[in-house]
Amino acid sequence: MRGFARSSRNFCQKGRDATQPMIEKFDITLNINGRDYAVRAEARRTLVDVIRDDCGLTGTHIGCEHGICGACTIILGDEAVRACLMFAVQANGKKIRTVEGLANGDALHPIQQAFIDHHGLQCGFCTPGFLMLAVNVLERQPDIGDEEMLDVLASNLCRCTGYQNIIKAVRAAAVEMRKAGA
Ligand code: FES
Ligand code: FES
Repeated sequence: MRGFARSSRNFCQKGRDATQPMIEKFDITLNINGRDYAVRAEARRTLVDVIRDDCGLTGTHIGCEHGICGACTIILGDEAVRACLMFAVQANGKKIRTVEGLANGDALHPIQQAFIDHHGLQCGFCTPGFLMLAVNVLERQPDIGDEEMLDVLASNLCRCTGYQNIIKAVRAAAVEMRKAGA
């Protein structure tokens, strides 16, 4: 693999103890919310695990671990992605945004404020994923139509809210974000 340094012995190295597990680790750097995190990760480890366990950013949640629920949604570059479907090594050197990076100090991001104002969360487990998904779509398409927005939100699962308040919150955030960008 190009772009990151191998930090353990090659699998085929002569004299390797056959009873030892063949664990090769790679030195990678993840730029998360504007800060570089240097981590050493096995190629098999998912991005969401490394974000949570190695970088200590536990706001990104893990649900299904196979791309269905969206709880692990983050923004990679300028695209919302499911961090359970990527290996951390694939994100080496890339810019990542997680829910921890939304607020500006004590000032909540409009999407966070809107979720509070419109009761867009109950248990809150799905919330970070919805916030990142919504922010990404509203940044990319500030004038997104209702139908298309509902289609995007339907890709994440919430078992508590029935979606109505999430939808209200995202509509309200869209207005605020357009005002802020005007
Ligand atoms: S945990 Fe990633 S989509 Fe469910
Ligand atoms: S608020 Fe509980 S799963 Fe969405």
